[in-house]
Amino acid sequence: VADLTIDLALIGFGHVGRRFVRLLEERQAWLAGRYGFSPRVVAIATGRHGHTISPTGLDALRAADDIEQGRDFDSCERRVKPADSERIIRAAAAARPTGRPFVVVETTPLDIATGRPAVDHVRAALEAGAHVITANKGPAAFAYRELTELADSLGLLFRFESAVMDGIPLFNMARETLKAVRVNGFRGVVNSTTNHILSAMDKGEAYDAALAEMQTAGIAETDPSLDVDGWDAAAKTAALANVLLDAGITPHDVTRRGIAAITSADIRSARDRGRRVKLVASGARTAGGVTTKVAPEELPTEDHLARLDGMANALEISTDLLGTIVVTQLEGGLTQTAYGLLSDLIEVAGRIK
Ligand SMILES: NC(=O)c1ccc[n+]([C@@H]2O[C@H](COP(=O)([O-])OP(=O)(O)OC[C@H]3O[C@@H](n4cnc5c(N)ncnc54)[C@H](OP(=O)(O)O)[C@@H]3O)[C@@H](O)[C@H]2O)c1
Repeated sequence: VADLTIDLALIGFGHVGRRFVRLLEERQAWLAGRYGFSPRVVAIATGRHGHTISPTGLDALRAADDIEQGRDFDSCERRVKPADSERIIRAAAAARPTGRPFVVVETTPLDIATGRPAVDHVRAALEAGAHVITANKGPAAFAYRELTELADSLGLLFRFESAVMDGIPLFNMARETLKAVRVNGFRGVVNSTTNHILSAMDKGEAYDAALAEMQTAGIAETDPSLDVDGWDAAAKTAALANVLLDAGITPHDVTRRGIAAITSADIRSARDRGRRVKLVASGARTAGGVTTKVAPEELPTEDHLARLDGMANALEISTDLLGTIVVTQLEGGLTQTAYGLLSDLIEVAGRIK
Protein backbone atom coordinates (compact mmCIF):
# COMPACT_ATOMS: atom_id res chain seq x y z
CA VAL A 1 0.00 0.00 0.00
CA ALA A 2 1.35 3.43 -0.93
CA ASP A 3 2.42 5.55 2.02
CA LEU A 4 3.75 8.45 -0.04
CA THR A 5 1.86 10.75 -2.40
CA ILE A 6 3.94 12.58 -4.99
CA ASP A 7 2.38 15.60 -6.68
CA LEU A 8 3.07 16.01 -10.38
CA ALA A 9 2.80 19.10 -12.59
CA LEU A 10 2.74 18.19 -16.28
CA ILE A 11 4.22 20.95 -18.41
CA GLY A 12 3.24 19.82 -21.92
CA PHE A 13 0.45 17.31 -22.44
CA GLY A 14 0.90 16.01 -25.99
CA HIS A 15 1.59 12.48 -27.22
CA VAL A 16 4.22 11.77 -24.55
CA GLY A 17 2.45 13.49 -21.64
CA ARG A 18 -0.82 11.67 -22.32
CA ARG A 19 0.85 8.28 -22.74
CA PHE A 20 2.67 8.93 -19.46
CA VAL A 21 -0.51 9.52 -17.44
CA ARG A 22 -2.05 6.36 -18.91
CA LEU A 23 1.08 4.40 -18.01
CA LEU A 24 0.84 5.73 -14.43
CA GLU A 25 -2.68 4.33 -14.31
CA GLU A 26 -1.61 0.97 -15.79
CA ARG A 27 1.25 0.64 -13.28
CA GLN A 28 -0.60 2.18 -10.30
CA ALA A 29 -0.75 -1.00 -8.20
CA TRP A 30 2.88 -1.78 -9.04
CA LEU A 31 4.09 1.67 -7.95
CA ALA A 32 2.13 1.47 -4.69
CA GLY A 33 2.95 -2.16 -3.87
CA ARG A 34 6.55 -2.32 -4.93
CA TYR A 35 7.76 1.25 -4.47
CA GLY A 36 5.28 2.58 -1.89
CA PHE A 37 4.12 5.73 -3.65
CA SER A 38 1.13 7.13 -5.52
CA PRO A 39 1.59 9.87 -8.10
CA ARG A 40 -1.12 12.51 -8.19
CA VAL A 41 -1.42 15.09 -10.99
CA VAL A 42 -2.09 18.59 -9.62
CA ALA A 43 -1.42 20.76 -12.70
CA ILE A 44 -1.36 20.43 -16.47
CA ALA A 45 -0.11 23.14 -18.83
CA THR A 46 -0.37 23.07 -22.62
CA GLY A 47 0.53 25.54 -25.35
CA ARG A 48 -2.80 26.11 -27.11
CA HIS A 49 -5.32 24.13 -25.03
CA GLY A 50 -5.12 26.07 -21.78
CA HIS A 51 -4.08 24.80 -18.39
CA THR A 52 -5.67 23.37 -15.27
CA ILE A 53 -4.55 23.35 -11.61
CA SER A 54 -6.10 21.52 -8.66
CA PRO A 55 -4.11 21.25 -5.42
CA THR A 56 -6.24 18.25 -4.37
CA GLY A 57 -5.51 16.34 -7.57
CA LEU A 58 -7.22 16.21 -10.93
CA ASP A 59 -8.45 13.48 -13.23
CA ALA A 60 -5.52 13.26 -15.68
CA LEU A 61 -7.09 10.43 -17.70
CA ARG A 62 -10.17 12.49 -18.31
CA ALA A 63 -7.98 15.46 -19.19
CA ALA A 64 -6.19 13.29 -21.77
CA ASP A 65 -9.53 12.22 -23.27
CA ASP A 66 -10.69 15.84 -23.33
CA ILE A 67 -7.62 16.99 -25.25
CA GLU A 68 -7.91 14.11 -27.72
CA GLN A 69 -11.58 14.87 -28.31
CA GLY A 70 -10.80 18.50 -29.04
CA ARG A 71 -12.03 19.93 -25.72
CA ASP A 72 -9.78 22.63 -24.24
CA PHE A 73 -9.24 23.26 -20.54
CA ASP A 74 -11.45 26.04 -19.14
CA SER A 75 -8.50 28.38 -18.96
CA CYS A 76 -8.04 28.26 -22.69
CA GLU A 77 -8.75 31.90 -23.35
CA ARG A 78 -5.49 32.52 -21.46
CA ARG A 79 -3.25 30.72 -23.91
CA VAL A 80 -0.14 29.52 -22.11
CA LYS A 81 2.97 31.41 -23.05
CA PRO A 82 6.37 30.18 -21.93
CA ALA A 83 6.42 32.53 -18.94
CA ASP A 84 2.93 31.31 -18.01
CA SER A 85 4.20 27.78 -17.61
CA GLU A 86 6.80 29.05 -15.16
CA ARG A 87 4.00 30.81 -13.26
CA ILE A 88 1.93 27.61 -13.27
CA ILE A 89 4.91 25.68 -11.87
CA ARG A 90 5.29 28.23 -9.08
CA ALA A 91 1.54 28.30 -8.37
CA ALA A 92 1.34 24.49 -8.16
CA ALA A 93 4.41 24.38 -5.91
CA ALA A 94 2.98 27.04 -3.60
CA ALA A 95 -0.44 25.35 -3.38
CA ARG A 96 0.80 21.96 -2.20
CA PRO A 97 0.73 20.96 1.46
CA THR A 98 4.01 21.65 3.29
CA GLY A 99 6.55 18.93 2.68
CA ARG A 100 4.57 17.14 -0.05
CA PRO A 101 7.09 15.92 -2.67
CA PHE A 102 6.65 17.65 -5.99
CA VAL A 103 7.84 16.63 -9.46
CA VAL A 104 7.61 18.63 -12.67
CA VAL A 105 7.25 16.49 -15.81
CA GLU A 106 8.47 18.57 -18.77
CA THR A 107 7.31 17.39 -22.22
CA THR A 108 7.04 20.52 -24.33
CA PRO A 109 8.39 20.55 -27.91
CA LEU A 110 12.09 21.10 -28.49
CA ASP A 111 13.03 24.63 -29.56
CA ILE A 112 16.26 24.02 -31.40
CA ALA A 113 17.28 27.69 -31.54
CA THR A 114 17.73 28.08 -27.79
CA GLY A 115 16.43 25.02 -25.92
CA ARG A 116 13.85 27.32 -24.39
CA PRO A 117 11.28 27.38 -22.92
CA ALA A 118 12.17 23.90 -21.64
CA VAL A 119 15.42 25.08 -20.02
CA ASP A 120 13.49 27.88 -18.27
CA HIS A 121 10.80 25.41 -17.15
CA VAL A 122 13.42 23.12 -15.61
CA ARG A 123 15.19 26.02 -13.89
CA ALA A 124 11.89 27.43 -12.55
CA ALA A 125 10.85 23.99 -11.31
CA LEU A 126 14.12 23.39 -9.45
CA GLU A 127 13.98 26.88 -7.93
CA ALA A 128 10.42 26.11 -6.76
CA GLY A 129 11.71 22.99 -4.96
CA ALA A 130 10.57 20.40 -7.55
CA HIS A 131 12.48 17.44 -8.85
CA VAL A 132 12.37 17.47 -12.66
CA ILE A 133 11.94 14.66 -15.15
CA THR A 134 11.82 15.45 -18.84
CA ALA A 135 11.60 13.76 -22.24
CA ASN A 136 12.79 16.99 -23.84
CA LYS A 137 16.35 16.97 -25.19
CA GLY A 138 16.68 20.74 -24.81
CA PRO A 139 17.70 20.94 -21.15
CA ALA A 140 20.53 18.37 -21.38
CA ALA A 141 21.56 19.54 -24.85
CA PHE A 142 21.72 23.25 -24.00
CA ALA A 143 22.23 23.56 -20.24
CA TYR A 144 23.30 20.23 -18.77
CA ARG A 145 26.03 21.60 -16.51
CA GLU A 146 24.04 24.55 -15.22
CA LEU A 147 20.89 22.53 -14.47
CA THR A 148 22.77 19.61 -12.92
CA GLU A 149 24.72 21.95 -10.65
CA LEU A 150 21.53 23.78 -9.69
CA ALA A 151 19.71 20.51 -8.93
CA ASP A 152 22.67 19.19 -6.91
CA SER A 153 22.95 22.41 -4.92
CA LEU A 154 19.27 22.16 -3.98
CA GLY A 155 19.32 18.43 -3.23
CA LEU A 156 16.93 17.74 -6.12
CA LEU A 157 17.05 15.40 -9.11
CA PHE A 158 17.10 16.45 -12.78
CA ARG A 159 16.56 13.37 -14.95
CA PHE A 160 15.99 12.96 -18.70
CA GLU A 161 16.31 9.25 -19.52
CA SER A 162 13.73 9.37 -22.33
CA ALA A 163 15.39 12.30 -24.15
CA VAL A 164 17.59 9.87 -26.14
CA MET A 165 16.44 6.44 -27.40
CA ASP A 166 13.09 6.70 -25.60
CA GLY A 167 13.07 4.66 -22.38
CA ILE A 168 16.13 2.52 -23.06
CA PRO A 169 18.56 3.01 -20.17
CA LEU A 170 21.51 5.03 -21.46
CA PHE A 171 22.00 7.84 -19.01
CA ASN A 172 20.98 5.65 -16.06
CA MET A 173 23.36 2.94 -17.25
CA ALA A 174 26.21 5.45 -17.57
CA ARG A 175 25.53 6.99 -14.17
CA GLU A 176 24.91 3.77 -12.27
CA THR A 177 27.26 1.29 -13.89
CA LEU A 178 30.08 3.18 -15.65
CA LYS A 179 31.29 4.98 -12.54
CA ALA A 180 34.95 4.02 -12.94
CA VAL A 181 34.97 3.78 -16.72
CA ARG A 182 36.17 6.50 -19.08
CA VAL A 183 33.95 6.94 -22.14
CA ASN A 184 36.06 7.84 -25.17
CA GLY A 185 33.27 8.29 -27.70
CA PHE A 186 29.95 7.14 -29.08
CA ARG A 187 28.35 6.44 -32.44
CA GLY A 188 24.75 5.57 -33.21
CA VAL A 189 21.46 5.80 -35.05
CA VAL A 190 19.32 7.83 -32.66
CA ASN A 191 16.49 9.35 -34.72
CA SER A 192 13.57 7.02 -35.45
CA THR A 193 11.81 9.24 -37.97
CA THR A 194 14.78 9.50 -40.34
CA ASN A 195 15.67 5.85 -39.88
CA HIS A 196 12.12 4.86 -40.78
CA ILE A 197 12.20 7.13 -43.84
CA LEU A 198 15.57 5.74 -45.03
CA SER A 199 14.44 2.14 -44.43
CA ALA A 200 11.14 2.74 -46.25
CA MET A 201 12.94 4.37 -49.22
CA ASP A 202 15.26 1.37 -49.26
CA LYS A 203 12.14 -0.77 -49.79
CA GLY A 204 10.88 1.51 -52.59
CA GLU A 205 8.42 3.59 -50.57
CA ALA A 206 8.10 7.35 -51.17
CA TYR A 207 9.77 9.82 -48.77
CA ASP A 208 6.56 11.80 -48.10
CA ALA A 209 4.49 8.68 -47.30
CA ALA A 210 7.14 7.41 -44.87
CA LEU A 211 7.29 10.79 -43.08
CA ALA A 212 3.48 10.93 -42.88
CA GLU A 213 3.47 7.50 -41.17
CA MET A 214 5.79 8.82 -38.46
CA GLN A 215 3.61 11.90 -37.98
CA THR A 216 0.47 9.78 -37.64
CA ALA A 217 2.20 7.57 -35.06
CA GLY A 218 3.18 10.63 -32.96
CA ILE A 219 6.87 9.80 -33.39
CA ALA A 220 7.93 12.68 -35.63
CA GLU A 221 8.85 15.91 -33.87
CA THR A 222 6.09 18.53 -33.62
CA ASP A 223 7.98 20.28 -36.45
CA PRO A 224 9.23 17.34 -38.59
CA SER A 225 11.96 19.42 -40.27
CA LEU A 226 13.79 19.03 -36.93
CA ASP A 227 14.08 15.30 -37.71
CA VAL A 228 14.78 15.54 -41.43
CA ASP A 229 17.41 18.28 -41.13
CA GLY A 230 19.30 16.37 -38.46
CA TRP A 231 18.52 18.80 -35.64
CA ASP A 232 16.87 16.20 -33.42
CA ALA A 233 19.90 13.93 -33.81
CA ALA A 234 22.20 16.92 -33.17
CA ALA A 235 20.32 17.70 -29.95
CA LYS A 236 20.68 14.07 -28.85
CA THR A 237 24.36 14.15 -29.81
CA ALA A 238 24.88 17.28 -27.71
CA ALA A 239 23.06 15.70 -24.75
CA LEU A 240 25.12 12.51 -25.05
CA ALA A 241 28.37 14.46 -25.43
CA ASN A 242 27.53 16.66 -22.44
CA VAL A 243 26.75 13.70 -20.19
CA LEU A 244 29.21 11.05 -21.41
CA LEU A 245 32.12 13.27 -22.49
CA ASP A 246 31.58 16.38 -20.31
CA ALA A 247 31.62 18.41 -23.54
CA GLY A 248 29.70 21.51 -22.43
CA ILE A 249 28.29 22.07 -25.95
CA THR A 250 24.94 22.88 -27.55
CA PRO A 251 23.37 21.32 -30.70
CA HIS A 252 24.74 24.28 -32.67
CA ASP A 253 28.27 23.05 -32.01
CA VAL A 254 27.53 19.70 -33.69
CA THR A 255 28.64 19.40 -37.33
CA ARG A 256 25.32 18.55 -38.97
CA ARG A 257 23.84 17.34 -42.26
CA GLY A 258 20.31 15.89 -42.51
CA ILE A 259 18.67 13.53 -44.99
CA ALA A 260 16.69 16.06 -47.04
CA ALA A 261 19.11 15.79 -49.98
CA ILE A 262 19.11 11.96 -50.01
CA THR A 263 17.20 10.58 -53.01
CA SER A 264 15.79 7.13 -53.76
CA ALA A 265 18.49 6.88 -56.44
CA ASP A 266 21.21 7.42 -53.80
CA ILE A 267 19.75 4.65 -51.68
CA ARG A 268 19.43 2.25 -54.63
CA SER A 269 22.97 3.02 -55.71
CA ALA A 270 24.29 2.31 -52.18
CA ARG A 271 22.30 -0.93 -52.06
CA ASP A 272 23.76 -2.03 -55.43
CA ARG A 273 27.20 -1.62 -53.84
CA GLY A 274 26.19 -3.67 -50.79
CA ARG A 275 25.84 -0.64 -48.55
CA ARG A 276 23.02 1.06 -46.65
CA VAL A 277 22.47 4.74 -45.92
CA LYS A 278 22.00 5.68 -42.24
CA LEU A 279 21.94 8.98 -40.37
CA VAL A 280 24.86 8.49 -37.98
CA ALA A 281 25.40 10.57 -34.84
CA SER A 282 28.82 10.49 -33.21
CA GLY A 283 31.04 12.09 -30.61
CA ALA A 284 34.65 11.50 -29.62
CA ARG A 285 37.29 12.84 -27.32
CA THR A 286 40.17 14.40 -29.24
CA ALA A 287 43.39 16.11 -28.25
CA GLY A 288 41.64 19.47 -28.55
CA GLY A 289 38.44 18.52 -26.68
CA VAL A 290 35.40 16.79 -28.13
CA THR A 291 34.19 16.52 -31.73
CA THR A 292 30.58 15.76 -32.61
CA LYS A 293 28.85 15.09 -35.90
CA VAL A 294 25.52 14.07 -37.47
CA ALA A 295 25.52 13.05 -41.14
CA PRO A 296 24.15 10.43 -43.53
CA GLU A 297 26.73 7.70 -44.13
CA GLU A 298 26.91 4.69 -46.43
CA LEU A 299 27.63 1.74 -44.15
CA PRO A 300 28.71 -1.76 -45.13
CA THR A 301 26.00 -4.32 -44.32
CA GLU A 302 28.19 -6.02 -41.72
CA ASP A 303 28.11 -2.80 -39.65
CA HIS A 304 25.68 -3.24 -36.75
CA LEU A 305 24.14 0.18 -37.44
CA ALA A 306 23.42 -0.73 -41.09
CA ARG A 307 21.06 -3.48 -39.96
CA LEU A 308 18.76 -1.21 -37.94
CA ASP A 309 15.41 -1.01 -39.69
CA GLY A 310 12.49 1.33 -39.18
CA MET A 311 12.15 2.45 -35.58
CA ALA A 312 15.21 0.55 -34.33
CA ASN A 313 17.94 2.69 -32.77
CA ALA A 314 21.36 1.80 -31.39
CA LEU A 315 24.26 3.46 -29.64
CA GLU A 316 27.84 2.18 -29.45
CA ILE A 317 29.76 3.54 -26.47
CA SER A 318 33.56 3.20 -26.62
CA THR A 319 35.20 2.88 -23.22
CA ASP A 320 38.67 2.31 -21.81
CA LEU A 321 37.90 -0.64 -19.54
CA LEU A 322 34.88 -2.33 -21.13
CA GLY A 323 35.67 -1.99 -24.81
CA THR A 324 32.65 -1.10 -26.93
CA ILE A 325 29.20 -1.43 -25.40
CA VAL A 326 26.28 -1.55 -27.87
CA VAL A 327 22.79 -0.68 -26.69
CA THR A 328 20.12 -1.53 -29.25
CA GLN A 329 16.47 -0.62 -29.10
CA LEU A 330 14.45 -2.77 -31.47
CA GLU A 331 11.06 -1.25 -30.71
CA GLY A 332 10.88 2.45 -29.98
CA GLY A 333 7.77 4.51 -29.46
CA LEU A 334 5.57 6.42 -27.10
CA THR A 335 5.26 3.66 -24.50
CA GLN A 336 9.03 3.41 -24.28
CA THR A 337 9.33 7.19 -23.96
CA ALA A 338 6.68 7.26 -21.24
CA TYR A 339 8.51 4.41 -19.53
CA GLY A 340 11.71 6.48 -19.44
CA LEU A 341 9.78 9.17 -17.54
CA LEU A 342 8.34 6.52 -15.23
CA SER A 343 11.76 5.07 -14.44
CA ASP A 344 12.97 8.60 -13.65
CA LEU A 345 9.95 9.09 -11.38
CA ILE A 346 10.70 5.86 -9.52
CA GLU A 347 14.25 7.08 -8.99
CA VAL A 348 12.93 10.36 -7.59
CA ALA A 349 10.57 8.44 -5.28
CA GLY A 350 13.52 6.39 -4.04
CA ARG A 351 15.42 9.58 -3.25
CA ILE A 352 12.47 11.02 -1.31
CA LYS A 353 11.74 7.97 0.83
N1 LIG B 1 7.06 11.55 -29.45
C1 LIG B 1 8.11 10.80 -29.16
O1 LIG B 1 8.18 9.62 -29.53
C2 LIG B 1 9.23 11.35 -28.30
C3 LIG B 1 10.28 10.50 -27.92
C4 LIG B 1 11.30 11.00 -27.07
C5 LIG B 1 11.26 12.33 -26.70
N2 LIG B 1 10.23 13.15 -27.12
C6 LIG B 1 10.23 14.54 -26.68
O2 LIG B 1 9.13 14.73 -25.79
C7 LIG B 1 8.62 16.06 -25.93
C8 LIG B 1 7.11 15.96 -26.20
O3 LIG B 1 6.88 15.26 -27.40
P1 LIG B 1 5.40 15.01 -27.90
O4 LIG B 1 5.49 14.04 -29.01
O5 LIG B 1 4.51 14.76 -26.74
O6 LIG B 1 5.04 16.47 -28.49
P2 LIG B 1 3.58 17.05 -28.79
O7 LIG B 1 2.62 15.93 -29.02
O8 LIG B 1 3.73 18.10 -29.83
O9 LIG B 1 3.15 17.75 -27.41
C9 LIG B 1 3.78 18.90 -26.90
C10 LIG B 1 2.95 19.43 -25.76
O10 LIG B 1 3.57 20.60 -25.21
C11 LIG B 1 2.60 21.65 -25.12
N3 LIG B 1 3.27 22.95 -25.10
C12 LIG B 1 3.83 23.64 -26.12
N4 LIG B 1 4.40 24.78 -25.64
C13 LIG B 1 4.17 24.81 -24.30
C14 LIG B 1 4.48 25.71 -23.24
N5 LIG B 1 5.19 26.82 -23.45
N6 LIG B 1 4.06 25.42 -21.99
C15 LIG B 1 3.35 24.29 -21.73
N7 LIG B 1 3.05 23.40 -22.69
C16 LIG B 1 3.45 23.65 -23.96
C17 LIG B 1 1.69 21.38 -26.30
O11 LIG B 1 0.45 22.05 -26.14
P3 LIG B 1 -0.50 22.37 -27.43
O12 LIG B 1 -0.68 21.08 -28.17
O13 LIG B 1 -1.74 22.89 -26.79
O14 LIG B 1 0.26 23.38 -28.21
C18 LIG B 1 1.54 19.86 -26.16
O15 LIG B 1 0.63 19.58 -25.11
C19 LIG B 1 9.42 16.73 -27.04
O16 LIG B 1 10.44 17.52 -26.46
C20 LIG B 1 10.01 15.55 -27.80
O17 LIG B 1 11.23 15.88 -28.41
C21 LIG B 1 9.22 12.67 -27.89
